[in-house]
Amino acid sequence: MASLNKAPYKGTRDFFPADMRFRNFVFEKMAAVSETFCYEPYDGPLLEEIELYYAKSGEELINDQIYSFVDRGDRKVAIRPEMTPTVARMVAQIHREVAKPLRWYAIPNLMRYEKPQKGRLREFWQYNADVFGAGEYGDVEIIQLAVQILRSFGANASQFAIHINDRRLVDFIFTGLIGLDAEANKKLYKLVDRKNKMDPAKFAAEVRTITKDESQANAFEAYVALATIADVERFMETKNSEAAAPLVKLFKTLGELGLSEYVLFDPSIVRGLDYYTGVVFEIFDKHPENNRAIAGGGAYANLLQIFNEQPLGGVGFGMGEVPLKEFLKAHNLIQDFSKAQVDVMVTYSLASSEGDAFILADRLRAQNLKVEMIFGETKAKKAFTQAERKNTTAVVLLGEESQVKNLSTRESRPLDLGNINALVEFVKGKN
Ligand code: HAM
Repeated sequence: MASLNKAPYKGTRDFFPADMRFRNFVFEKMAAVSETFCYEPYDGPLLEEIELYYAKSGEELINDQIYSFVDRGDRKVAIRPEMTPTVARMVAQIHREVAKPLRWYAIPNLMRYEKPQKGRLREFWQYNADVFGAGEYGDVEIIQLAVQILRSFGANASQFAIHINDRRLVDFIFTGLIGLDAEANKKLYKLVDRKNKMDPAKFAAEVRTITKDESQANAFEAYVALATIADVERFMETKNSEAAAPLVKLFKTLGELGLSEYVLFDPSIVRGLDYYTGVVFEIFDKHPENNRAIAGGGAYANLLQIFNEQPLGGVGFGMGEVPLKEFLKAHNLIQDFSKAQVDVMVTYSLASSEGDAFILADRLRAQNLKVEMIFGETKAKKAFTQAERKNTTAVVLLGEESQVKNLSTRESRPLDLGNINALVEFVKGKN
């Protein structure tokens, strides 16, 4: 019989304990920061009816990336490639009865049929934070939250930047100003999305295959040349338009909140998902060798209408743990997760101490310590070698002369089983 492949399916990962230590560290930080903003956790199913994504997720996700199949009841279902349609579906069920704004977060695993590469896999976990019914305040808070999450890992403004744009501005320019029809508009959106990865001459040539004449091409190029929010403001004054007013206001507010160093206007950010209607943004790593998006999001006003509900605007973002890890690695922000954490290793050199050892281990666990038993009679030297393979704080040796040693302070003392509190304090290095 041919032997089976030990490797996981292409683009997915096995998470060994060391990988889980890193993953839990990341998720715990994300959750902790979310909780400080009073975002509450939610979750949804792994499978959704595929119709949910047809409605507004955009062509790339549906045509190229979705994992779908027909179930035994002839329903066409998909493994979730993103969380936003699910959260909108959930909010649609309850939004009438609950006070707004609704602030929710989740860290689901998603699947997309992508070419696995640095920062992109087929199965990945994506932190999502979304706020519903907060209007333009939501845009501000979501950006504050994104900044705080990255700061909680020790990152600063020299390491990442939030590139912001607004679909209302883009639509005004593409449709209102340049006068493109829906088809050309869509093509231009896709082209802008790829702009930073393209050679400028090729970009200019492609613009001209989409626009009808040179004046349209020039108007488009005037838009992509806008480099700062001040440029946008001046440009829009000459057009007598208010389409950029919300974006200008957002930048002003972010400046007042001391967040200017984290944000910049970027005309190439349009986002590939169809549901965005307002502010859109992506967070980029500034490291020259890892210049990629680590998060993306935006505001969507009409997603609840696909469920025949009254409009309720939302804004949020998704951050993948795969590009986040590359970001943290590039900036040396990852601590060592190769060793497991053990507070106390309990070991015994005499068979007659075995029962005491098991009982002591349990008493220490009841004090919230992580306690590992070394099974079988073990000499002190071997016990210390085992302790060194992990991040062990203290070793208890039961036997003829029972003692406890704190490996960080290097201090030893005789073991007093009658005073568990003193032992706990000693292990914690407090006395
Ligand atoms: P997205 O831009 O498709 O947006 O994905 C957001 C983030 O998910 C990316 O910036 C990246 O960190 C991560 N990501 C995407 N694809 C992969 C992949 N193949 N492997 C690893 N990480 C990946 C959305 O999904 C929106 N639903 C986000 C959102 C939430 N908008 C509003 N609320």
